Amino acid sequence: MFQYMFIQKEKIKNVIKNTSYQKYLNEIHEIIKTHHKNFQCLLTSKALFRKISFYGKKKNKFFYEHINENKFNILLTKILNNFYEKYNFLKNEQQLFLRLFDVQDSVVNELNKKGISIFNELLAKPKCQKIIDLLNLKQFHNRQTNEIKKLNLYGSNKNIWWLHNYQDLLQIDLVQHILSSSYLLHIAQTYFGCTPILHHVHFWASYPGDLESTQKFHQDFDDIRFLKVFIYLNDVSELNGPHCYVQKSLQNAHNIIKKDNKLSERLEDDLVNDYFKEDVLHIKGNTGTMIIEDTHGIHKGAKVKEGKRFIFQLLFGCSTFYTLKMEHFKKYKCSIEKHAILYQAFKNYPYTFMNFNFEK
Ligand SMILES: [Fe+2]
Repeated sequence: MFQYMFIQKEKIKNVIKNTSYQKYLNEIHEIIKTHHKNFQCLLTSKALFRKISFYGKKKNKFFYEHINENKFNILLTKILNNFYEKYNFLKNEQQLFLRLFDVQDSVVNELNKKGISIFNELLAKPKCQKIIDLLNLKQFHNRQTNEIKKLNLYGSNKNIWWLHNYQDLLQIDLVQHILSSSYLLHIAQTYFGCTPILHHVHFWASYPGDLESTQKFHQDFDDIRFLKVFIYLNDVSELNGPHCYVQKSLQNAHNIIKKDNKLSERLEDDLVNDYFKEDVLHIKGNTGTMIIEDTHGIHKGAKVKEGKRFIFQLLFGCSTFYTLKMEHFKKYKCSIEKHAILYQAFKNYPYTFMNFNFEK
């Protein structure tokens, strides 16, 4: 089993030899060891390992100095792949998102080339509606005002509201099926080149209101490599906040970003639009549209001018650095009975579901 494994320096040395990173063997060994310790902590539900030698509580300085280098990220995933064998996700046949089965290779190609792949109406409308109905009148959190209240999703609200209690989502069987979709997991694994980890699941509702920082162009730095999956749970037009993504910006973002910019610094619309022109996508889509996206590429959420927008989001990554970044990380608490579908996925793929905890 993975968890008893020892991270041998020799193995890393073999992967990085003949690359420009070979002089950083010790630092890279440290990164992989930290990841592995945290994986062990997560599996045994212990507190995360945060004693990162001479770097800091949350961040490894060396790691963050290089995280914007594609070659570095790819090298780290190669190393991870040498330690944690990939899963055969496709051995479990599934009906959900079956359309992805025939196109998996082209999806990964598209992600590599453009950073994004879009599927119109992938999740049937009644299923989307059901999720909204089950989340209606649950507790929602406004991150700007810190207000928490029961929200009538169909009402005329203002600003952005995040589902407050993840249990409201996880207890929905359909949501559990989405989280453990073999096709999504397989796509993430192929794209990363190493075993994926499900980091988080979110739902939020956007209404007309003030601009948030996520509504200005930026890049995400969630993990070594990562993918976000968005599902529109209602129709999204030009009016109710189409998600914006700059295709091919993964490879070309550095052309407009100054070297001394902070990671994830917000970029002005004119700068992005002028340089990338028709590569700036405003993604409209009917209910059930799925967007698989590497949000390390430049993107933003557009403002809702009229109406509302409901989004469901998953984040797949490939290391515990995502987890480590969060000061108050807690595992998703699940019960074997109520979350039977997820529990099955956890039993099959414990590494992928290391952020989930199951009790009787
Ligand atoms: Fe973002």
